[in-house]
Amino acid sequence: MAKSKKSTKAKSKAPAKKPVRKVVKLAAKSTSKNTIKSAGKAASKSAKSAKPAKSAKKANGNGAYPKPVAKPFGEAGKALEGVRILDFTHVQSGPTCTQLLAWFGADVIKVERPGVGDITRGQLVDVKGADSLYFTMLNHNKRSITIDSKHPQGKRVLDELIKKCDVLVENFAPGALDRMGLTWDYIHKVNPRMIVASVKGFGPGPYEDCKVYENVAQCTGGSASTTGFRDGLPLVTGAQIGDSGTGLHLALGIVTALFQRNRTGRGQRVLCAMQDGVLNLCRVKLRDQQRLKAGPLTEYSQYGEGIPFGDATPRAGNDSGGGQPGRILKCKGWEDDPNAYIYFITQAPVWQAICDVIGEPGWKTDPDFATPKARLPRLNQIFERIEEWTKTKTKFEAMDILNQYDIPCGPILSMKELAEDESLRKTGTVVEVDHPTRGKYLTVGNPIKLSDSITEVKRSPLLGEHTDEILTDVLGFKAKDVAEIKNSGALSAPQKEEKAA
Ligand code: COA
Repeated sequence: MAKSKKSTKAKSKAPAKKPVRKVVKLAAKSTSKNTIKSAGKAASKSAKSAKPAKSAKKANGNGAYPKPVAKPFGEAGKALEGVRILDFTHVQSGPTCTQLLAWFGADVIKVERPGVGDITRGQLVDVKGADSLYFTMLNHNKRSITIDSKHPQGKRVLDELIKKCDVLVENFAPGALDRMGLTWDYIHKVNPRMIVASVKGFGPGPYEDCKVYENVAQCTGGSASTTGFRDGLPLVTGAQIGDSGTGLHLALGIVTALFQRNRTGRGQRVLCAMQDGVLNLCRVKLRDQQRLKAGPLTEYSQYGEGIPFGDATPRAGNDSGGGQPGRILKCKGWEDDPNAYIYFITQAPVWQAICDVIGEPGWKTDPDFATPKARLPRLNQIFERIEEWTKTKTKFEAMDILNQYDIPCGPILSMKELAEDESLRKTGTVVEVDHPTRGKYLTVGNPIKLSDSITEVKRSPLLGEHTDEILTDVLGFKAKDVAEIKNSGALSAPQKEEKAA
């Protein structure tokens, strides 16, 4: 292994290779699921044989731990088992959050408006009469109950849910929850242990009353102004950093509040504003904003091109943000395939290997190319030369060769390639799920892998599928009460008026 780096320095023509790693098509032989399972077995053996460490009994900063369970890893229940979520979320940001909590074992009860449900059930429909992929891919492992939250009998059911749940999660427009009568003061009075978690577009300030969607958050959180090319429009990204990104932030806020509740015994409010979530993900761009005071941002291509900087962090095209120059380069087949490209980083420690691979050994010692500083004004020339080489290889061949020398790179993978990727299927990151009305579909499974809380991805609920079982099993309503609530119309869509004869 180490041989490659030493001998690439010594030789100029044929760079020494590390033993070839099977990276073509990114197919890993041993999957992390297998690894987790075998690690689990080994660990469970030792858990059975070894006595619990003395320290396990002692109180630490967070109190005393129980004795480690002897069950094999993955068989001791799920991480959030016992936590019940009153899920008032819709569209993408909130559902992303509650889906994660459900994957970790929380009982997520999704409250939906009778007859309509989450609006995404009927958006971007691809199979007539079935819930859309937009909905199914964001609402796995949840139960659905339909409640008109503004109907007196609906409020009666909601009150019971508030008493029985640990967390209320919502992403209504500002003020909507209050207009339902579910103010923080009210909820906290009914259940002082309740955590109330919200996604809003903006935090307190001039825009706090605005409704916000994904691209608005990307634009107001600093992403759009720093994405795209300097001489082009600001761009939004395909990654849903405003919605799914904020959902992720909120999930962390919720488990943190649950952790604190163990000590305090009381709930609290958790707020994630989408603008804040996006800005958090654009942290490095605020770093660059402040660096501008000290002079030009030398790792940006525009520095090498002699283009002066303005007073705000500019768009950096495909430059890499970490100070190591990087670009997207054409690979074999680029003329016909829109994804025949590779990301290539000219990381300083592997410069010698790069020179050898692309057939420019002279650049290792040429003062114009030998140091990172000397290369900065010549990045266009350098990447054009590297591209001459990448154009002779497919993106997978290039990845295979470059990885032998630890040259950081990554093929541009299309959604089709990701959907078909065997290794992602094996790890459960891409999962096939069966659904009663739409049949089989692909989804993204839980990207967070816990060795003792293994995710099973279950299909999303049909609208109101669990209304009866929640009323009786969770809330304990007697048959008479269930009938009264149902007859009131609080759980069903208003009947369409019959046409006059
Ligand atoms: N029973 C009765 N009424 C219900 C209900 C139920 N089960 N569920 C929702 N409603 C009502 C709400 O009370 C609200 O009524 P009101 O405004 O008359 O008080 C109404 O439905 C609409 O809710 P709202 O959240 O305003 O939906 P919207 O479609 O108008 O706006 C968003 C959608 C996403 C723009 C808005 O919810 C929002 O800004 N959310 C916060 C930011 C966010 O999460 N954005 C990203 C979404 S991916």
